[in-house]
Amino acid sequence: MPEAEVGPLAPGQTGTASLAGRRVVVTGGSGFIGGHVVAALCRLGADVLSVDRRPAHPFRCHPQGDHDVKLVLGDLTDRWVVDASVEAGTAAIVHLAAQTSVLRSLQDPQGALDNNVTALGALLERSRKAGVSTFVLASSNAVVGRGATGTLHERVPLMPLTPYGATKAAGEMLLSCYDAAYGVRGVALRLTNVYGPAMTEKDTAVPRLMRAAAGESRFEVYGDGSQVRDYVNVADVVSAVLLALGSPAMSGPVVIGAGHSVSVLDLVALVEQATGRHLPVAHVPAKAGEMPAVVVDNSLARSFGWSPQVSLEAGLAEVAREWFG
Ligand SMILES: NC(=O)c1ccc[n+]([C@@H]2O[C@H](COP(=O)([O-])OP(=O)(O)OC[C@H]3O[C@@H](n4cnc5c(N)ncnc54)[C@H](O)[C@@H]3O)[C@@H](O)[C@H]2O)c1
Repeated sequence: MPEAEVGPLAPGQTGTASLAGRRVVVTGGSGFIGGHVVAALCRLGADVLSVDRRPAHPFRCHPQGDHDVKLVLGDLTDRWVVDASVEAGTAAIVHLAAQTSVLRSLQDPQGALDNNVTALGALLERSRKAGVSTFVLASSNAVVGRGATGTLHERVPLMPLTPYGATKAAGEMLLSCYDAAYGVRGVALRLTNVYGPAMTEKDTAVPRLMRAAAGESRFEVYGDGSQVRDYVNVADVVSAVLLALGSPAMSGPVVIGAGHSVSVLDLVALVEQATGRHLPVAHVPAKAGEMPAVVVDNSLARSFGWSPQVSLEAGLAEVAREWFG
């Protein structure tokens, strides 16, 4: 579609139908969640531009090759990449690129700050100047950190325990200000642990468990394994992103999680069930910055019509099929 025909989402436009033909920029489009988001937007007929510092890996469910996805290959901490990514006429941005590892953020807080705050600030500023109407940020429940003493919802005070959580909280603050002061509608989706197909390169609980099931390594359980976590399927995250893009009344933080938590030991048992394999497990001391528990209330997202569709059992079975056939 020629550039002139691609405009911002009009204030009254709702639903994903309004995305057809619209320029949507997805940062981190070569990543785990990004690949699924890019594919879904392509299916809806959006004019997708992916920005990443690495090209999309061909074996993942990326649409490159099948669809016409534009790619800006570069690092968003470089200003030219931000400028090249957001042109006038861009309707919306889905910002997924980030320093995503809590552990790495503890080792390199400045790197997390540069990537998760400074690059985001530059992207928001560029969005303001380009007239972008909607900005969806992948945030995390790590923003509440020390405040995670009960069920987590959007009104729990921000008390991050790690640079990762702090930079996501700072990102939410920037989003709030660009929304209030400049009308760039900002939605911060606070994702719980996301899992699903195409995460073989990730180093989070589910792929680690799959590697243990494959006999490649032992699965490390931090502490006694009774800490509970919420696992949300990537298909449900994609539907939350699409909902955020198409819902003019949605802004600010929105918790996106299954709304059902399981202990780490329960997850081990569920993966044994899904793979039909025994998992070698090693107990190691708990890591610094670990949230005591993650139990979420997803009722705000539900009030916009979102609800998780994939049960943990069904989602793990799909992942197990991808790994073991
Ligand atoms: N996966 C989860 O469980 C989870 C949970 C909560 C929040 N999130 C957030 O969701 C987003 C996506 O997570 P993911 O699991 O898909 O991560 P991922 O690591 O698979 O993908 C991130 C992508 O961003 C790219 N990237 C990072 N920094 C960049 C930069 N400066 N410039 C250009 N590209 C850059 C990487 O190359 C990568 O392809 C992140 O913001 C993450 O913090 C993820």
